[in-house]
Amino acid sequence: MEKLISKNLVSTNREEKGKKVFIKTFGCQMNVNDSERIKGILKTLGYEFTENWREADLILLNTCTVREKPDRKVLAYIGEYRKVKGINPNTKIGVCGCLAQRMGEELDKRAGGVIDIMFSSYNIHHLPELIQKAEKGEKAIEILSEPPKNEWEMFEYPTVRENPYWSFITIMKGCDKDCTYCIVPQTRGRERSRPIRSIINEIKELVKEGVKEIHLLGQNVTAWGKDFETPIPFSYLLYKIAEIEGVERIRFTTGYPTDLTDDVIKAMGEIPQIADALHLPFQSGSNRILKLMHRYYTKEEYLEKIEKLKEVKPNIALSADVIVGFPGETEEDFLETLDLIEKVRFEQLFSFKYSPRPGTPASEYSDQVPDDVKTERMHRLLELQKRIMNQEAKKYIGRVVYPLFERYEGGKLVGRSSENKWVEVESDRKDLLGKIVPVKVERAGVYVLRGRLMV
Ligand code: SAH
Ligand code: F3S
Repeated sequence: MEKLISKNLVSTNREEKGKKVFIKTFGCQMNVNDSERIKGILKTLGYEFTENWREADLILLNTCTVREKPDRKVLAYIGEYRKVKGINPNTKIGVCGCLAQRMGEELDKRAGGVIDIMFSSYNIHHLPELIQKAEKGEKAIEILSEPPKNEWEMFEYPTVRENPYWSFITIMKGCDKDCTYCIVPQTRGRERSRPIRSIINEIKELVKEGVKEIHLLGQNVTAWGKDFETPIPFSYLLYKIAEIEGVERIRFTTGYPTDLTDDVIKAMGEIPQIADALHLPFQSGSNRILKLMHRYYTKEEYLEKIEKLKEVKPNIALSADVIVGFPGETEEDFLETLDLIEKVRFEQLFSFKYSPRPGTPASEYSDQVPDDVKTERMHRLLELQKRIMNQEAKKYIGRVVYPLFERYEGGKLVGRSSENKWVEVESDRKDLLGKIVPVKVERAGVYVLRGRLMV
């Protein structure tokens, strides 16, 4: 840390003092965590944060390209923010994240040449140099085709987080699966696991700062450790983290069904801090479509995993991602998806209409599903999911849940329970902020549980 700061930052520190940065983050939790790291770097450089892009000296967009919708959104936002050049011609515009990675300089061309800084998720830690270059009036574009050797150095910078009591921890990057619809392996690269010592050290630091809950992140977090010279099982990491004094709750996202092996499930049962919640994308309930997607499991195997999970964690709240209208999806295939949803009874489901992504195999399949069919199926899926969520919510009434209270607003304590539900309690007990507290649920909505304190 010290070394990095002296190497990269001190020289620019004085220049940047008093400057303001506006950051807009699109997409997944990985991007959110990358933005927290970027904020940490910029804070070290002396930047202040602003919510108003018009007054910023630096506007940074951390972008997403997983579907066409985020692409369009990002381009629209760049179109809006470029107006800043009319207000303050010295303001720099920076773009990073997956759309920047996918399009590179082409994105700058599409944006009319207004982009001053561009970088990959691989080289976030090069930002100080890139800013210096842009300050000199040069284009600072550094989109790498693969991660540099010193990629993990970025974790030596601190993060700036919204909340003091819980934190994301990136434990791996990239994805080695080759789902035929997905652009992520192109934009985030091959799987790289973060060294265990680096993970443990960051968690120890966070705990010292008052963090109680940690949320391990990666595109395919259950594959952590496989790429080491001597592979280490993900379950080992879970036990090691649980041993750190002060870690009161552990979550991890996203798991891949076949990598959720028996030892991981066993660890989930044995480690008391592991939350009663898991996000396990299934994408489709049809074995035929799963095969076309290059997902390495069947519907039956997925359901078996869920059964095993429920054996070790009977109250587990499950969530997942599902794609509607993958090329070639028939009505029968779609009914299999609905059947899987009925069987598992997810408490939250993120459903996406299939969106062809440039360079992915599925985008070239000839039997694309028409948009009106996708929309109609999506509508039915959402109806079913709404019914299940309403029914599932009722089971919480009368139950005791354990939120980690993270904010106080309007006379209420608000926190997330182990099952990943928002819990609200009318109370002025601000001393309970940052604590995991038992709450008896009196009213249960789909997303929010309301109740009274048991302390
Ligand atoms: N393993 C990753 C998944 C990244 S993409 C993770 O950590 O979350 C997030 C979700 O977007 C996927 O699970 C999938 O459901 C959806 N998705 C990915 N590519 C898509 C596409 N081309 N069209 C529609 N949905 C897609
Ligand atoms: Fe994408 Fe499949 Fe990996 S959804 S991120 S290629 S597991």
